[in-house]
Amino acid sequence: MDKIRVKGGNELSGEIKISAAKNSVLPIIAASILGNDKVKINNAPMLEDVYVICNVLEELGCNISLDKSSKSITVDSCNIKPINANNELVKKMRASFLIMGPMLSRLGYCKLSLPGGCNIGSRPIDLHLKGFKALGADIEIGHGYVEARAKKLIANRIYLDFPSVGATENIIMASVFAKGTTIIENAAEEPEIKDLADFLNSMGAMIDGAGRGKIIIEGVDSLKGTEHTPIYDRIEAGTFMIAGAITHSKIKVMGINEEHLRPVIEKLKESGVKIEVSEEEQSIVVDGRNIIKSVDIKTMPYPGFPTDMQAQMMSLLALANGVSVITETVFENRFMHVSELARMGANVKIDGRTALIEGVPKITGCEVKATDLRAGAALIIAGLSAEGETDVTDIYHIDRGYVDIEKKLRSIGADIERYSVD
Ligand code: UD1
Repeated sequence: MDKIRVKGGNELSGEIKISAAKNSVLPIIAASILGNDKVKINNAPMLEDVYVICNVLEELGCNISLDKSSKSITVDSCNIKPINANNELVKKMRASFLIMGPMLSRLGYCKLSLPGGCNIGSRPIDLHLKGFKALGADIEIGHGYVEARAKKLIANRIYLDFPSVGATENIIMASVFAKGTTIIENAAEEPEIKDLADFLNSMGAMIDGAGRGKIIIEGVDSLKGTEHTPIYDRIEAGTFMIAGAITHSKIKVMGINEEHLRPVIEKLKESGVKIEVSEEEQSIVVDGRNIIKSVDIKTMPYPGFPTDMQAQMMSLLALANGVSVITETVFENRFMHVSELARMGANVKIDGRTALIEGVPKITGCEVKATDLRAGAALIIAGLSAEGETDVTDIYHIDRGYVDIEKKLRSIGADIERYSVD
């Protein structure tokens, strides 16, 4: 099993390049099966989660060519069959559930293993199913599976009780061929949803309003193939911005969209980090050489502060001047990193969904466990500023969502390496 070892204390400098957004690419690969011709995705991030969704589609009969050197993925779904998806693969990644909408739309059938709980919460799928039912699908749940069937999907008006990212995406994909006008209200507004809609529209879909709370989909008869370059990964960018801040360094993050990062930029500025954006170059210079001040944060659906940046921000605030409060409103159990940060010397108290972080002057390296993807990134970041060596274990979580994290950080001066242990 691999570990990542970080030796803290190096000042970082130079440029770091951001990959395309994992959370855009996963639904886009799932949506590729809606076309009647090949789909090509450019600049795809070569990540474990991306390989898993490609394998799920291959098992269903799709022909996928994944070229790691040119970072392109081509999906040919001519031979896709309405068979059960590979259970082991689906269980590996919750986002596999994103194939249900497009399968239902294209083949009128989909049976998937019910996603269980995960480290950050129970993560139900009731809103996805509410949407499918509203479009006319029959849903049966039993023996650990969810089975959806529909001879024909018909447009409808769907109100989401919570702006779920996955449910919004799944319902968009399920409704592209539904006769009439589908309206999704209280839809999630994350940039990755607009990216999915842009991709589907380039195939001939008629989706309006994606990226806002009300999305309108006019059903079309068919979709063609397309070529698409996904948006940059705002969470990877935010993670590296915090790496710059926590090491009191000045670095340039290349490949950003300022609007997508606004909530993170604003909080970093409030904590005393200097930020300079070049829209033309799509870059941000982060200067963390000032003292870092405490700030309060509440995670919210976009455009609020992203839950996927909460753990990394906690690493920074653990070393800030003063007491910060972080309230996690999106997932019910997303403080697993706290006990690991505490082993490094952070002073954090949890009360329900709130964490109270009293900044300390220094933290020290030790062996810590990545309990989920973003928690793992937070521990690497903490390690960059800790005294001595930090060994992060269970890094398969990190590999699900960060392309070559140690290579990228090493390129800007971090003392970080991956090594295998038997
Ligand atoms: C997506 C992202 C994940 C991010 C999350 C919130 C992908 C592949 N993953 O996950 O990185 O952390 O958005 O920004 O894009 N919920 C329900 N019923 C449902 C669906 C969700 O109650 O049917 C709840 C969840 O339990 C959770 C909240 O809604 O508490 C947010 O979940 P959701 O927005 O659906 O997240 P994901 O799409 O799973």
